[in-house]
Amino acid sequence: MILFKRAAELRNYLEKQRKKGKKTGFAPTMGALHEGHISLLEASKKENDLSVVSIFVNPTQFNDPADYAKYPITIEKDISLLEAAGCDILFLPPVEEMYPSGQMLKKKYELGYLETLLEGSFRPGHFQGVCQIVHRLLEIVLPDNLYMGQKDYQQCMVVKKLLELTGLGQTVHLQISPTLREKSGLAMSSRNMRLSEAERNAAVAIYQALDHIRENLKPGSLKELQQQATAQLTGKGFRVDYVAIADAGTLYPAEDWDGRQKLVALAAAFLGEVRLIDNLLLN
Ligand code: PAF
Repeated sequence: MILFKRAAELRNYLEKQRKKGKKTGFAPTMGALHEGHISLLEASKKENDLSVVSIFVNPTQFNDPADYAKYPITIEKDISLLEAAGCDILFLPPVEEMYPSGQMLKKKYELGYLETLLEGSFRPGHFQGVCQIVHRLLEIVLPDNLYMGQKDYQQCMVVKKLLELTGLGQTVHLQISPTLREKSGLAMSSRNMRLSEAERNAAVAIYQALDHIRENLKPGSLKELQQQATAQLTGKGFRVDYVAIADAGTLYPAEDWDGRQKLVALAAAFLGEVRLIDNLLLN
């Protein structure tokens, strides 16, 4: 595995590879890697000649400074995992490489309603930060395929929109990999590292609440189901930001189900100080 810290060096290297006809897959991450990240790399390795992973804890996407300060960093372990999984290139830039001259948020991405719903409404500015860094990373790596996890359902939709807005979508294909789960059902997440053993056991309630919605879905009003799932979480001591049932294609809230519309259930809730998110496609 080759490690790059400088954008220009990585860009030059990849340009040479592109001229040799090599196809590139790219998985952007914030490190604290787990099997979910490795599954993105594995998907990339199947479909590309070269696989690039980036690790950068992006300051502009954290609306809560405490969350940024406490974001888990396990770089030595990450490097071993990536090497063992056959990653070709790791991009590990310092902050000043991604935000030269300290410029943090200079561009505004017109994300429309995606920015005001769910994660967008509870984490103001978050998706602008995501777009800023993903845009910058894509301009450096110029991959053929971009790998992201369904765990961040709304982020995947935002990045799809970013690809449209920037025109990068003409050459970059977004590939979404399914969420990996622990045996208990808990969605794998870097933030799980911040949970105690007892909290990790309790955290499975988020998956169970979403699964309750999936199991009990029937045509008609969805309000009661959504309220039951919320009550399950609050009853177990979670501070719930939202439990929502939405159209799987647009993320618009779904109030009544006609038995055919494709739906997704999404949740975000705090367990202690740690905010966890998850989602399930319902049908
Ligand atoms: O999903 C993440 O880890 C981050 O939001 C991403 C896409 C790497 C951008 O910083």
